[in-house]
Amino acid sequence: MDAITLLKRDHREVKALFAEADELGDRATTARAKLFAKIDEALTLHARIEEAVFYPAIKEKAKARSEERDDVLEAYEEHDVVKSLIKQLEALDPSDEAYKAKLTVLKENVEHHVKEEESSLFKVARELLGEEELEQIGRQIEAMKEKAAA
Ligand SMILES: [Fe+2]
Ligand SMILES: [Fe+2]
Repeated sequence: MDAITLLKRDHREVKALFAEADELGDRATTARAKLFAKIDEALTLHARIEEAVFYPAIKEKAKARSEERDDVLEAYEEHDVVKSLIKQLEALDPSDEAYKAKLTVLKENVEHHVKEEESSLFKVARELLGEEELEQIGRQIEAMKEKAAA
Protein backbone atom coordinates (compact mmCIF):
# COMPACT_ATOMS: atom_id res chain seq x y z
CA MET A 1 0.00 0.00 0.00
CA ASP A 2 1.32 3.46 -0.72
CA ALA A 3 2.42 5.84 2.04
CA ILE A 4 -0.50 8.23 1.58
CA THR A 5 -3.12 5.49 1.90
CA LEU A 6 -1.50 4.26 5.12
CA LEU A 7 -1.15 7.73 6.63
CA LYS A 8 -4.77 8.58 5.76
CA ARG A 9 -5.87 5.40 7.48
CA ASP A 10 -4.08 6.56 10.66
CA HIS A 11 -5.84 9.91 10.37
CA ARG A 12 -9.25 8.19 10.25
CA GLU A 13 -8.40 6.06 13.29
CA VAL A 14 -7.39 9.06 15.38
CA LYS A 15 -10.44 10.99 14.22
CA ALA A 16 -12.68 8.15 15.45
CA LEU A 17 -10.94 8.16 18.85
CA PHE A 18 -11.48 11.91 19.22
CA ALA A 19 -15.13 11.47 18.23
CA GLU A 20 -15.49 8.86 20.99
CA ALA A 21 -13.94 11.27 23.48
CA ASP A 22 -16.41 13.95 22.41
CA GLU A 23 -19.29 11.71 23.49
CA LEU A 24 -18.05 11.53 27.09
CA GLY A 25 -19.68 13.53 29.83
CA ASP A 26 -17.74 15.91 32.08
CA ARG A 27 -17.39 13.35 34.86
CA ALA A 28 -16.14 10.46 32.70
CA THR A 29 -12.55 11.25 33.62
CA THR A 30 -11.26 7.65 33.64
CA ALA A 31 -12.77 6.85 30.25
CA ARG A 32 -11.38 10.12 28.88
CA ALA A 33 -7.89 9.30 30.17
CA LYS A 34 -8.09 5.83 28.60
CA LEU A 35 -9.06 7.31 25.25
CA PHE A 36 -6.30 9.86 25.52
CA ALA A 37 -3.79 7.02 26.12
CA LYS A 38 -4.90 5.47 22.81
CA ILE A 39 -4.77 8.82 21.02
CA ASP A 40 -1.34 9.48 22.52
CA GLU A 41 0.01 6.14 21.31
CA ALA A 42 -1.46 6.48 17.81
CA LEU A 43 -0.39 10.10 17.28
CA THR A 44 3.10 9.61 18.67
CA LEU A 45 3.80 6.68 16.36
CA HIS A 46 2.18 8.44 13.39
CA ALA A 47 4.29 11.58 13.89
CA ARG A 48 7.45 9.51 14.37
CA ILE A 49 6.78 7.66 11.11
CA GLU A 50 6.06 10.82 9.14
CA GLU A 51 9.19 12.49 10.48
CA ALA A 52 11.36 9.43 9.83
CA VAL A 53 10.41 8.43 6.30
CA PHE A 54 7.76 10.72 4.78
CA TYR A 55 8.62 14.36 5.46
CA PRO A 56 12.36 13.95 4.71
CA ALA A 57 11.56 12.41 1.31
CA ILE A 58 9.33 15.36 0.37
CA LYS A 59 11.79 17.89 1.76
CA GLU A 60 14.61 16.37 -0.27
CA LYS A 61 12.62 16.66 -3.50
CA ALA A 62 11.32 20.14 -2.66
CA LYS A 63 14.77 21.70 -2.30
CA ALA A 64 14.27 24.14 -5.16
CA ARG A 65 10.56 24.76 -4.54
CA SER A 66 10.05 27.21 -1.72
CA GLU A 67 6.26 26.84 -1.43
CA GLU A 68 6.39 23.06 -1.13
CA ARG A 69 9.35 23.30 1.22
CA ASP A 70 7.39 25.68 3.43
CA ASP A 71 4.54 23.13 3.57
CA VAL A 72 6.90 20.50 4.96
CA LEU A 73 8.56 22.89 7.40
CA GLU A 74 5.13 23.98 8.69
CA ALA A 75 4.13 20.34 9.13
CA TYR A 76 7.15 19.77 11.41
CA GLU A 77 6.18 22.83 13.47
CA GLU A 78 2.58 21.64 13.76
CA HIS A 79 3.87 18.31 15.03
CA ASP A 80 5.82 20.17 17.71
CA VAL A 81 2.67 21.96 18.87
CA VAL A 82 0.76 18.67 18.99
CA LYS A 83 3.59 16.95 20.88
CA SER A 84 3.67 19.76 23.42
CA LEU A 85 -0.08 19.41 24.06
CA ILE A 86 0.35 15.63 24.39
CA LYS A 87 3.11 16.16 26.96
CA GLN A 88 0.90 18.54 28.95
CA LEU A 89 -1.95 16.03 28.96
CA GLU A 90 0.37 13.19 30.02
CA ALA A 91 1.39 15.29 33.03
CA LEU A 92 -2.12 16.39 33.95
CA ASP A 93 -4.46 14.62 36.36
CA PRO A 94 -7.48 13.42 34.34
CA SER A 95 -9.79 14.94 36.97
CA ASP A 96 -8.23 18.39 36.51
CA GLU A 97 -10.77 20.84 35.13
CA ALA A 98 -8.38 21.74 32.29
CA TYR A 99 -8.03 18.14 31.04
CA LYS A 100 -11.09 18.08 28.81
CA ALA A 101 -10.30 21.54 27.42
CA LYS A 102 -6.73 20.54 26.62
CA LEU A 103 -7.95 17.41 24.87
CA THR A 104 -10.32 19.53 22.78
CA VAL A 105 -7.49 21.89 21.84
CA LEU A 106 -5.36 18.86 20.92
CA LYS A 107 -8.20 17.64 18.70
CA GLU A 108 -8.50 21.03 17.00
CA ASN A 109 -4.77 21.18 16.34
CA VAL A 110 -4.74 17.65 14.95
CA GLU A 111 -7.77 18.39 12.75
CA HIS A 112 -6.05 21.46 11.34
CA HIS A 113 -2.83 19.56 10.70
CA VAL A 114 -4.60 16.61 9.06
CA LYS A 115 -6.51 19.02 6.82
CA GLU A 116 -3.26 20.66 5.71
CA GLU A 117 -1.70 17.28 5.00
CA GLU A 118 -4.65 15.88 3.10
CA SER A 119 -5.48 19.03 1.14
CA SER A 120 -1.96 20.13 0.34
CA LEU A 121 1.07 18.14 1.52
CA PHE A 122 -0.14 14.78 0.20
CA LYS A 123 -0.74 16.35 -3.22
CA VAL A 124 2.78 17.74 -3.15
CA ALA A 125 4.06 14.28 -2.18
CA ARG A 126 2.23 12.62 -5.06
CA GLU A 127 3.61 15.15 -7.48
CA LEU A 128 7.21 15.13 -6.25
CA LEU A 129 7.67 11.50 -5.23
CA GLY A 130 5.58 9.52 -7.68
CA GLU A 131 3.85 6.19 -7.19
CA GLU A 132 6.93 3.99 -6.97
CA GLU A 133 8.59 5.95 -4.18
CA LEU A 134 5.25 6.25 -2.35
CA GLU A 135 4.97 2.44 -2.43
CA GLN A 136 8.51 2.12 -1.15
CA ILE A 137 7.86 4.54 1.72
CA GLY A 138 4.64 2.62 2.37
CA ARG A 139 6.71 -0.52 2.95
CA GLN A 140 8.94 1.39 5.38
CA ILE A 141 5.85 2.63 7.22
CA GLU A 142 4.48 -0.90 7.52
CA ALA A 143 7.83 -2.12 8.85
CA MET A 144 7.90 0.65 11.49
CA LYS A 145 4.35 -0.18 12.52
CA GLU A 146 5.12 -3.89 12.85
CA LYS A 147 8.17 -3.10 14.93
CA ALA A 148 6.15 -0.81 17.21
CA ALA A 149 3.46 -3.45 17.68
CA ALA A 150 5.96 -6.21 18.54
FE1 LIG B 1 1.70 15.03 10.27
FE1 LIG C 1 -0.43 12.76 9.27
